Amino acid sequence: MTVPELKTKKTELGKTRKYNNKRDAIITVKNLKTYYPIYGGMFKRKVGEVKAVDGVTFNFYRNETLGLVGESGCGKTTIGNTILRLVPNTDGEIYYEDLRIDPRKVQGLLERWISRYKTLVLYAIPGIYEKNKEKFEKWMSRLPSFLYKRYKRLKIDIKILQRDFLVGKFIRKRIQMVFQDPDASLNPRWKVVNIIGEPLKILEGITKKRKIRARVLELLQTVSMKPEHLDRYPHEFSGGQKQRIVIARALACNPEVIILDEPTSALDVSVQAQILNLLKELQKEFDLSFLFITHDLSVVQHIADRIAVMYLGKFVETGAVDEVFYNPSHPYTKALLSARPTFDPTSKTNRIILEGDVPSPINPPEGCPFHPRCPEKDKHIGCGVENPRKIHLGGDHYIVCLPFKDEKKSYEGMEYISD
Ligand SMILES: Nc1ncnc2c1ncn2[C@@H]1O[C@H](COP(=O)(O)OP(=O)(O)OP(=O)(O)O)[C@@H](O)[C@H]1O
Ligand code: SF4
Ligand SMILES: [Mg+2]
Repeated sequence: MTVPELKTKKTELGKTRKYNNKRDAIITVKNLKTYYPIYGGMFKRKVGEVKAVDGVTFNFYRNETLGLVGESGCGKTTIGNTILRLVPNTDGEIYYEDLRIDPRKVQGLLERWISRYKTLVLYAIPGIYEKNKEKFEKWMSRLPSFLYKRYKRLKIDIKILQRDFLVGKFIRKRIQMVFQDPDASLNPRWKVVNIIGEPLKILEGITKKRKIRARVLELLQTVSMKPEHLDRYPHEFSGGQKQRIVIARALACNPEVIILDEPTSALDVSVQAQILNLLKELQKEFDLSFLFITHDLSVVQHIADRIAVMYLGKFVETGAVDEVFYNPSHPYTKALLSARPTFDPTSKTNRIILEGDVPSPINPPEGCPFHPRCPEKDKHIGCGVENPRKIHLGGDHYIVCLPFKDEKKSYEGMEYISD
């Protein structure tokens, strides 16, 4: 087998990076934690945290679809929003190829001050400073030492924020999101040409109306819509057509990754199939990578290459679609798959009914977070006390569980992995 040729790619941040066309991860997420603060009391202080995503590690590749499945509230959307920097991560790292893209934090009061005057800080101050550098430094060095120390920190903080700002702009073009509800993501007062043209103006800097119309028309045709749709408002379309408009808007800036957050769950089955086929065609044509978030297992089986099953902010099983669907190994995945409706009246799948509700992500259970509902906990060692471990089952297949009580080797070829 010949090794695929390495391509080089010039990025806007001025670095030339190398990537191996297929099997180089385009997005890498390491031990990602996203907690939402809960405020309470008279002074609205922070009284707790919703641990929406609690230490997930994964990556996905160029031209690949990674399906993310799990019950409602397990943190799927939060992962998508965190990758897109719509919510800040509490801990962990996110990389786009080899560029770290999670927002860097600047601590303390200064952070509030800087965020309030961000544009001024990011543009004006560095500009003024560069011009009068020597004068500035001389004047500052005469200040009392505590003020001079603060000034030095400010300089570092501004550098971090400037870089962060550039990274934000850089990934906005490369990573796009399609939200679950097309009605909520389209401005009802705007015509389609403005809706799809907006990213062209903001991210591509195209200002001429004629150029924007031409590009929007091209995009509409890519998603099988007609030129007469250009000047219509969102309420004049069906649900499927609205979702096509949202997909066209996501494609406007030639992204490389699209995060699809339940893009078909508001649609009926025939339109769902059309949209899924459209997505597959677009992926082939434009070499796109998809993070496909859904709770519909049939959809994910149809569209994904690999799948990650989530429970209470953590991954419990990952693997190629066939590995997970034909050999589900984690008790939660088994229960999820057994609940899938089947069209075969002769099929005798034993439905596993999970007891109780999903625990609160504010105060997740000790040990394995699935243990209060796990039908297999008696067969394993220490489910309520020990943290489960990542176990390699061969190929791309991993589960997060604990060893069996009676057997020395719980799984064929078992190997414990630490992240
Ligand atoms: N802005 C927020 N502030 C506080 N908690 C939030 C916020 N957004 C989400 N959550 C909580 O974080 C957890 C995960 O939410 P998320 O929207 O990621 O779930 P999900 O897996 O996408 O669910 P669904 O399948 O219903 O869309 C939930 O418990 C939710 O209540
Ligand atoms: S560690 Fe125990 S409770 Fe958790 S999934 Fe495995 S068997 Fe079930
Ligand atoms: Mg969601």
